[in-house]
Amino acid sequence: MEYRFSSRVSQLKSSAVRDILKLTQGKDMISFAGGLPAEELFPVQALREAADRVLLAGSSALQYGLTEGYLPLREQLCGRMAAKGMKVTPEEMILTTGSQQAIDLLIGVLTEPGDTILVERPTYLASLQVFALHGLNVVAAESDENGIIPESAEQLIKQHKPKLLYAVPTFGNPTGRVWSMERREKMLALCKQNEMLIIEDDPYGDIKFSAEDHFPTLFSLEGGAKDSSVLYTSTFSKTVAPALRTGWAIGDSRVIRMVAKAKQAADLHSSTMDQQILSQLLNHFDLDAHIALISKEYGDRMLEMHGLLKKEALPDLNWVMPKGGMFIWVELPDGLDAEALLRCAVQKGVAFVPGSSFFAGDPVRNTLRLNYTHNKGERTVHGIARLVEAIGEFTVRS
Ligand SMILES: Cc1ncc(COP(=O)(O)O)c(C=O)c1O
Repeated sequence: MEYRFSSRVSQLKSSAVRDILKLTQGKDMISFAGGLPAEELFPVQALREAADRVLLAGSSALQYGLTEGYLPLREQLCGRMAAKGMKVTPEEMILTTGSQQAIDLLIGVLTEPGDTILVERPTYLASLQVFALHGLNVVAAESDENGIIPESAEQLIKQHKPKLLYAVPTFGNPTGRVWSMERREKMLALCKQNEMLIIEDDPYGDIKFSAEDHFPTLFSLEGGAKDSSVLYTSTFSKTVAPALRTGWAIGDSRVIRMVAKAKQAADLHSSTMDQQILSQLLNHFDLDAHIALISKEYGDRMLEMHGLLKKEALPDLNWVMPKGGMFIWVELPDGLDAEALLRCAVQKGVAFVPGSSFFAGDPVRNTLRLNYTHNKGERTVHGIARLVEAIGEFTVRS
């Protein structure tokens, strides 16, 4: 049988990284590759109690539910959003199967194949896969430690007339960067001027290392959901647990209604059980205290990795210490290809993601992403030692 796949899937890039990592399974591998939260910090006991309460209350959690999501959880989330200056009603919110689905559905209802989308350079890998599956052209604006560079975006907007901007303005993946206030305001104005919508993806905004830091979301700067040019999405994946697959999108109710229609076709609704468990969790568990706790721990783990890299003082290795999120973005010496380095690193038992995966076209090859939330202590020490050894050997060889 010859299977003829759609051109959109056929064009999807197969991940060289996955192939390499597959070869290494079973070995003593220390992985800084995945964006995994620390399992030992999942609120297991509180989730168990929440699940008990859900099931003891009867069988409704096992039934089909509303496409828009469990209303009490939407109401609770509206309260949490309001505390961040994002005033929305439950009609302006939809619960999704992770924020990944929110991105997919928003793109599905707002674009046609062949439309152009503007992103940051580099940007979140799985968003690029969504754009490819929807047949979009992607153009990428340059960014630096203060986020996307508006002048670069403006030039691309003039040239390509993109319909949308997709961005992770706070603790981006893969770079951990935060857009400055000035750039947030400039990009909002620029997009409005050019009648572009913005998908603001904010899975990491809560994971900040200094409680004094305040990075207002683009959505909050817009003022409200009605007629907003910003569609915002976030998730419980990083603050509670990714397996609950619960995210949300907020925006003008007309957009949310359209997303709900698309979601009916995709999966009818997200898990009622998971949503009810999260609702019970929010009722009986201090999620903000938990977020403060994991942020402190992740901040310590980041400092540990940062300190180890600094101690090695490898020449021409550059990174900016993140203020939150889950990743350190490293620039290797010029001309050093991180994909080739990965082959050498996995032989030594350490893995990372080469930066090239995060670029829409024309990658910067001497970059890599390190996750610091999943490992700590001995494992981080050994992992960084192996990485440093690989870089040393590789630099000599190449
Ligand atoms: C920038 C970004 N957006 C969206 C997601 C998807 O998260 P989830 O679908 O688990 O909510 C991730 C996951 O790592 C991410 O890094």
